[in-house]
Amino acid sequence: MKSILLKLLPRSIKELAKKCLSTFSILTVKLFSINGFTASIYYLILDRSFYREHKASLLGRLSFQKKLKQVDNSSALLRRNIHRLEKGLIMRPRRASFAEAYVLETVEVFILAVQTKGFCKKELKWATDVLQKYFEVVEDQGRISLARATFATTNEPVSGNHSKAKSVPYSHASLPAPSVEFEELTQLYTRRRSVRWYQDRQVEKKSLEKAVNSASLAPSACNRQPFFFNYTADGALASNIAELAMGTVGFAGNIPALIVVVGDLSNYPSERDRHVIYIDASLAAMQLMLALETLGLSSCPINWPDVESRERLMQNKLGLQYFERPIMLIAVGYAMPAGEIPFSQKKSADMLLKEIL
Ligand SMILES: Cc1cc2nc3c(=O)[nH]c(=O)nc-3n(C[C@H](O)[C@H](O)[C@H](O)COP(=O)(O)O)c2cc1C
Repeated sequence: MKSILLKLLPRSIKELAKKCLSTFSILTVKLFSINGFTASIYYLILDRSFYREHKASLLGRLSFQKKLKQVDNSSALLRRNIHRLEKGLIMRPRRASFAEAYVLETVEVFILAVQTKGFCKKELKWATDVLQKYFEVVEDQGRISLARATFATTNEPVSGNHSKAKSVPYSHASLPAPSVEFEELTQLYTRRRSVRWYQDRQVEKKSLEKAVNSASLAPSACNRQPFFFNYTADGALASNIAELAMGTVGFAGNIPALIVVVGDLSNYPSERDRHVIYIDASLAAMQLMLALETLGLSSCPINWPDVESRERLMQNKLGLQYFERPIMLIAVGYAMPAGEIPFSQKKSADMLLKEIL
């Protein structure tokens, strides 16, 4: 009916109607943007853009709570709390007693991890070594003695199965010296461009694994690393998934491998951290693209639109949980030497660097 009407109406009427709708829409936005409450009413009644984010945040919180009782191969709470303990250990001056508020819950989730088959051994070693170091130096106060006694009941010899070096804080002086000069690094940055034309050449899983291991060295809030990379090196499937994004028109069919960067909201007990998935995943994604470049592979980040119908398609395609949110796609492949790259002029420090006065 709507399409028939649109066909019958003269162009001038259609343009007038479009203008009226646009004015009405701006007026509505103006009206509802008066304060936070009216803005929430707007998004409750007139616009469902945040529908998925709201539900995903709540389901993420629920899943976080569930994982306090049942972990799989990693634990967000353990990672965060072990990180906090490490921060307490490196404090200058270090306090005689610290972490009383959360050390007991840390030991409890640690024990759960020890008892869980398939839990990441490296994560467990890190937690074991840090907890051991913590109890070596901390003075008992309040719940710390109970946490100490509870920790003493575990006899998991994880440290023995791995590198003898302890996974505990170390001095900056023991870091490897940087092996790249500023110019070399800038050359790598210059070399990385968004490439959209690729050779018909298989992308090896080994290269992706190598690049992902490099990317995993990126910083993340409380070292939780709340993301994962779904990938396919099947060109047809890569193109099929890339088509779900809006910005791949004209080159989706030319993508040999595709990575979907996914953020996991079940890493957080509250909404205040809901944006961290985007920050952490993007920091890692940047390192991933640079690492790929050093392996001879080019890439192109692809925007993932927060549009319900597309979210649903991607969720089904990848078998994602509702609280696992696609963040961006990355096309990967060997660049076609004659394929062109937009100039993409960059802003410089005189525009980007603003002194806080
Ligand atoms: C988050 C993000 C989303 C992007 N989405 C698309 C996209 O949908 N389609 C596309 O062709 N390029 C996309 N790009 C690539 C940008 O167009 C490109 O990074 C920018 O023009 C600068 O060019 P350069 O990457 O070669 O430096 C995206 C880049 C980023 C960082």
